[in-house]
Amino acid sequence: MGGSCAQRRPARRPQVLFPFLLPLFYRALCEPIRYSIPEELAEGSVVGNLAKDLGLGVLEVSARKLRVSAEKLLFKVDAESGDLLVKDRIDREQICKERRICELQLEAVVENPLNIFHIIVVVEDINDHAPQFDKDEINLEISESVSPGVGTILDLAKDPDISMNSLSKYQLSPNEYFSLVVKDNPDGGKYPELVLKKTLDRETQSAHYLVLTALDGGVPPRSGTAQIRILVVDANDNPPVFSQDVYRVSLGEDSPPGTSVLMVSASDKDEGFNAEITYSFFGVDDKVQHVFSLDSATGSIRTQQPLDFEDVERYTVDVEAKDRGSLSARCKVIIEILDENDNNPEITITSLSDEILEDSRPGMVVALFKTRDRDSRENGEVTCNLSRYVPFQIHSSSNNYYKLVTDGTLDREQTPEYNVTITATDKGKPPLSSSITITLHITDVNDNAPVFQQSAYLVHVPENNPPGASIAQVSASDPDLGPNGHVSYSIVASDLEPRALSSYVSVSAQSGVVFAQRAFDHEQLRAFELTLQARDQGSPALSANVSLRVLVGDRNDNAPRVLYPTLGPDGSALFDTVPRAAPPDTLNKDSSSVVLASILTPSVEADKKAFKQSARDFVDT
Ligand SMILES: *[C@@H]1O[C@H](CO)[C@@H](O)[C@H](O)[C@H]1NC(C)=O
Repeated sequence: MGGSCAQRRPARRPQVLFPFLLPLFYRALCEPIRYSIPEELAEGSVVGNLAKDLGLGVLEVSARKLRVSAEKLLFKVDAESGDLLVKDRIDREQICKERRICELQLEAVVENPLNIFHIIVVVEDINDHAPQFDKDEINLEISESVSPGVGTILDLAKDPDISMNSLSKYQLSPNEYFSLVVKDNPDGGKYPELVLKKTLDRETQSAHYLVLTALDGGVPPRSGTAQIRILVVDANDNPPVFSQDVYRVSLGEDSPPGTSVLMVSASDKDEGFNAEITYSFFGVDDKVQHVFSLDSATGSIRTQQPLDFEDVERYTVDVEAKDRGSLSARCKVIIEILDENDNNPEITITSLSDEILEDSRPGMVVALFKTRDRDSRENGEVTCNLSRYVPFQIHSSSNNYYKLVTDGTLDREQTPEYNVTITATDKGKPPLSSSITITLHITDVNDNAPVFQQSAYLVHVPENNPPGASIAQVSASDPDLGPNGHVSYSIVASDLEPRALSSYVSVSAQSGVVFAQRAFDHEQLRAFELTLQARDQGSPALSANVSLRVLVGDRNDNAPRVLYPTLGPDGSALFDTVPRAAPPDTLNKDSSSVVLASILTPSVEADKKAFKQSARDFVDT
């Protein structure tokens, strides 16, 4: 401008109409007229009285057409007052950007004579802008593993105003985790930095919301804010935690493979990868690992083999939960196997008496046995009984040992052996049982004497029989066994002369057949009586006696004669060819009937007839 003034000055000088005024104005004309206004004045606001400042009278303003010109016309001259007025919006920040001094140059022009004056309007800054952040929201991600003291540079706020009106400071909403430090840029300016005061914990608070405020130094100050959203990024700072330290479960031993046992569950406060948990058995031996399966993703434990309470009653396994960051935790799983009644009782005969004498007293032990049931509690509690009535009973001894004892009398001759069935039954629901049958053989005792088939025998032998002829047979039976039942016969008494006996009769020890040793003579010997004995071979031996009456029948080989009946010393009838005196103590008036009764054997018809005949003979004589 100065240049144009210098250029114009020599050119204009001859045209100046008022040479006397020229020295006065020269400096003034070359020095621009300066006004100072704040920006953003309203349209029509007065900048200054230009006419007066140019030394023009009020009338000259219109007469000489005072006007202003500029590249961009923001001002005009009031034609009446000569005031320089604001014609358009003057925005310092638009016009001058960041220049500290903002001047608008314009020329004032008058005619008659034509003259140009330089005007400078200084536009003063007003605090018409608040600091402003590029974005309303600042998003940050900070790991919870970051140590206190570490800073994060934040976005700057901008304020196009200058000096006092420009950005002056930053403020952060109060909070316990962060503070704000404003640092100087090496190239001038300041920038805010967010500094961690205290360790973050995502698991406690996963996000923090702060407000960053930028203030300028205007009076009053203006401000702009930005929301700071801080997401706390997970660090693997939490191990998995099981919902229980110890898990207990009961499982029936009859559970088939594939049965779900239980599910362990661990949680991890971390997130994402750091919270991904896998489960595994820890230090569990192979055998047990075959029995159970563990789903590494879900923690579900299942059986994969049949269980057997009798084999293993309880499993204790450790399960480990591990996150992907390798932090781990362990829990115990206790699996109790419940007994099911799946085992039958077993009976074992431990000893069996090889001789049960039939005269054993009640209570004699004939067998010992024991029971065993692999199940437990009621399922393994066994009771024993005998299936049906037998003369035995069970006495419980200790510890599942039992005695089988006699209970009642035994008789080998009636029941030589017993099949005794012992049944053992447990108390399960339903109960299981098993049986064993033992055969008890009763040992013979010589408790039976031989018994003759008849209570007495009578035979009729015609006289003159051939010597050696069998004249009778007696028979006794003995139900005992072996020698105890083996009978032999003998003659133990007779009414014959003892020394003569063997010359008259003999008996076969084996068969009981009685043989005549000579020919009988009715005239000399009409009848005789033998006492036969049957004796077994037991020890001691038992025996029985029976009488055998032999009547010798008459053949007509003699002239008639008189016979005299009398009683023998044992009460049997004796016949003699001559009368003799009866012993006074044995002979009575009933003697003949006693004789008849003793020799009458009603069961033997033939003998009866023979007897009647001989009795008739006797009476006839
Ligand atoms: C006992 O059992 C055996 C074998 O089954 C059989 O031969 C025998 O006749 C039975 N005895 C009795 C007295 O039932």
